[in-house]
Amino acid sequence: MTSVAVLCSGGDAPGMNAAVRSLVRNGLQQGYQMLGVEDGYAGLIKGRMVALNSLSVADILNRGGAFLGSARSPEFMTPQGLHAAVANCHKHHIDVLVVIGGDGSYRGAATLVEQGIKVIGLPGTIDNDIGCTDYTIGFDTAVNTAVEAIYRLRDTSSSHHRASVVEVMGRHAGYIALYAGIAAGADMILLPEQPVAAEAVASELLRHQRAGKDHQLIVVGEGWGNSEELAKYLHQTTGIRINHDVLGHIQRGGEPLPMDRIHASCMAQYAIQLIAAGKLNELVGWRAGEYMSVPIAVGSAEIKPIPASMVDLAQVLSH
Ligand code: F6P
Repeated sequence: MTSVAVLCSGGDAPGMNAAVRSLVRNGLQQGYQMLGVEDGYAGLIKGRMVALNSLSVADILNRGGAFLGSARSPEFMTPQGLHAAVANCHKHHIDVLVVIGGDGSYRGAATLVEQGIKVIGLPGTIDNDIGCTDYTIGFDTAVNTAVEAIYRLRDTSSSHHRASVVEVMGRHAGYIALYAGIAAGADMILLPEQPVAAEAVASELLRHQRAGKDHQLIVVGEGWGNSEELAKYLHQTTGIRINHDVLGHIQRGGEPLPMDRIHASCMAQYAIQLIAAGKLNELVGWRAGEYMSVPIAVGSAEIKPIPASMVDLAQVLSH
């Protein structure tokens, strides 16, 4: 009997549970034995597997987080850790390992492939920064959470005629900042991909003030730089009172929105179809409105630039 194991890796993302549920139920339909690995690669190293049946994935569709647990595992990057992980795949007779995670998790998956383990990747990260797919599971929910929080912050900064500097997640990628910034009507959006000097931010703030704006919103993508220092600098140089807030991990939690549940369910179904067709070592994605896959060696090397037209749009809308 074909045995398929699934793990969640890296930062959790809303919709990971929906992906596991769909994977398990589609896998059982094919007659596969389904296993869950607890706590990502860390659990694989320790051989922490649980058998999954249809009931074990009941009532998780709407649950945030990853019920199997997720982890970043420095040990997996060591030769000993990798060796233990591979040994456990053999010991538990895993024919295919499905990895749900972001780019770091995909690099881990590529290492396993080099060791002869068969892998399928599903894109699960709030950052939406995986090159070989237009969408990653969790992004829509995270953007929605960010926009909702930003609107609360807007209420108070507008009452007090202050500027609000809000940091959103995205260590390397500005997708959350760009989408949340546009959706929340930001006056400025600072992206990790586009270095901008604090001096330029200060003069823009003053320009907006001269144009009559008595409150402003600056959305900062985490990887752009230190938003707290920026807020202090802006206050010192412009005299404008600034609120500074970091939304942080609140963006990773919470019930997945329908968009994430649907993408997760469909991508997992696609993964099982790949396994059934014997097309392995692939990364599943969604491109131009269709589910698709690319070989792991190709897909993990792809980079995803920030959409220039949306950056231009944000600029125009802020005037
Ligand atoms: O999972 C992606 C992400 O949320 C990034 O946006 C963020 O930079 C990072 O994870 C934070 O990771 P951790 O929870 O390990 O600090």
